[in-house]
Amino acid sequence: MRSRKLSFSIFRYNPSDPDSQPRLQEFELDETPSMTLFTVLSRIREEDPSLQFDFVCRSAVCGSCGMLVNGKPRLACRTKTAELPRKTNLLPLPFFRLVGDLSVDTGTWFRELGKRVRSWVHTDKFFDRTALEERMFNSQARAIYELDRCIECGCCLGACATAQMRSDFLGAAGLARVARFCIDPRDQRSEREIFEVLGTDEGVFGCIGLLACQDFCPKNLPLETQISYLRRVLARGSLTKAPDVRESPTRSASL
Ligand code: SF4
Ligand code: F3S
Ligand code: FES
Repeated sequence: MRSRKLSFSIFRYNPSDPDSQPRLQEFELDETPSMTLFTVLSRIREEDPSLQFDFVCRSAVCGSCGMLVNGKPRLACRTKTAELPRKTNLLPLPFFRLVGDLSVDTGTWFRELGKRVRSWVHTDKFFDRTALEERMFNSQARAIYELDRCIECGCCLGACATAQMRSDFLGAAGLARVARFCIDPRDQRSEREIFEVLGTDEGVFGCIGLLACQDFCPKNLPLETQISYLRRVLARGSLTKAPDVRESPTRSASL
């Protein structure tokens, strides 16, 4: 079977170069078996070393290769050209600071997010490193694990219209981070402290239920379920560390 001639229209702009103007540049290459967008961009960069894009793991682990592929946020390393039409448009993820071309700075945003939602276990218990590990219910451990699978790729924020209108929005990734501590039995935060982090338009009230976050999360995190769970926590004003998995904000675990 003859291979397809693929055509890519790629956003080019270097914000640190005063002479650079935003534009789309066309590239063509022949499709090869099992080709991914990582292969495509690497080949193009052999021809044009100035092309900027990010890859580290090439296996959907590091979260660095999120971009808009024909308008949809996707991980480029996990996108096979066989799933794409002959002509493909590649743009950087919106919402994040543009570094250049397809490269955006998700790292700074996620570091700041960690500080904003105080992303650590809050406890005033003395840490005794000689003591046995504290026990928790399997259902709680599974629910926490499920939320910790976020790879901070930013696809949920790139997909969310609220995030494009509100640069201070925590986004589904931020809301999921808070949910992770809400179900953690070691975390002693009160309902009031949770409300301070979430009870604003930057938090859960800014979410208008568009659910694109859920549709485009490449790790299939149960974002919709978590956002509903946080709404219930705020509405009830009570935070139950329920061992029952029915109360936990997760669907079934997926790796
Ligand atoms: Fe990426 Fe999903 Fe985490 Fe959002 S929640 S940053 S889409 S892995
Ligand atoms: Fe945005 Fe997801 Fe809410 S797409 S508006 S965070 S449901
Ligand atoms: Fe790491 Fe794509 S290169 S997620």
